[in-house]
Amino acid sequence: MSIYEHLVLKMARRWIAGSSMQEALEYARQANSIGMKAIINCLGEHSISKDEAESSTDEYIRLVDAMHSSGIDGSISVKLTQIGLDVDYDTCNSNLMGIISHASMYDIFVWIDMESSPYYEHTVGMYLGMLKHYRNIGLAYQAYIKEHSLDIMHILESGGIVRLVKGAYREDASIAYRSKRYVNASFRRLMRILFKHSRSMFAIATHDNTLIEEAIALSKEHQGKEFEFQMLKGIRDDLKHMLVRQGFKVAEYIPYGINLSGYVYRRIRERPSNLLLLARSLL
Ligand code: FDA
Repeated sequence: MSIYEHLVLKMARRWIAGSSMQEALEYARQANSIGMKAIINCLGEHSISKDEAESSTDEYIRLVDAMHSSGIDGSISVKLTQIGLDVDYDTCNSNLMGIISHASMYDIFVWIDMESSPYYEHTVGMYLGMLKHYRNIGLAYQAYIKEHSLDIMHILESGGIVRLVKGAYREDASIAYRSKRYVNASFRRLMRILFKHSRSMFAIATHDNTLIEEAIALSKEHQGKEFEFQMLKGIRDDLKHMLVRQGFKVAEYIPYGINLSGYVYRRIRERPSNLLLLARSLL
């Protein structure tokens, strides 16, 4: 690790379990011990060669083995550009299939993160393709996108499992809502669709109090729907603990590794005051 990476990791420690898989497993164990599931992500995106994509794929295979052998209650979350989507579709598809088939041996669930809009079509297409063979997979769905070419209903009708998020990338206004008001309205609309139409489990991934309260109200209206709240490591721990105490399922997204910059940048964009917090962590 370079001095620069070391410094950024030190600053971003609240969001990232550490540089090694071992640290992520340790943190996941702590999350399990307080009643939360773990969603472990090995940081990285935009692999530029087959070798790099394969090495990330191998890391996920090792992670699945380690989660199984250490009895972690949780899933993994993967970015398709990390495992080769920028290299070529087939490389990525075959790497993803390797990860999912390995995870399915141990009944470990695989989430596919949704990246920026140029990857949307391929990500949804690959997910729907995998659904024909595997059931242990879910897909992040971004509420800020104005017009998804593939409707959420199509994913649900194909037996898909959705993690609803607001969306974290810088997108053009022609593609994505920019104002919180519109993003929240879209999130609400999609959340109602999930509670009404999802035939399997789904995830509400937000730290937004109001939307979480609305999800709780919807869960009372649609008794018996299986869903979980998902939140990121280092954000709103108070809320996570409160939801666990109230008996809701909560899963914590736990990243690890040294390719931090994209992830850290998105956390700062969501809340620019985080920059000050990071700077203070150096003192
Ligand atoms: P919002 O940004 O409105 O924040 C609501 C409140 O949460 C804030 O008032 C604050 O209290 C707290 N908060 C939010 N972000 C914070 C931060 N960075 N630091 C401190 N406090 C913060 N996106 C994507 O495009 N593709 C994906 O695959 C995923 N995957 C994913 C998985 C999981 C488990 C989660 C929780 C989120 C994602 N996201 C994502 C990120 C998501 O799109 C979104 O950017 C963040 O969750 C922040 O949005 P909120 O819904 O929390 O609302």
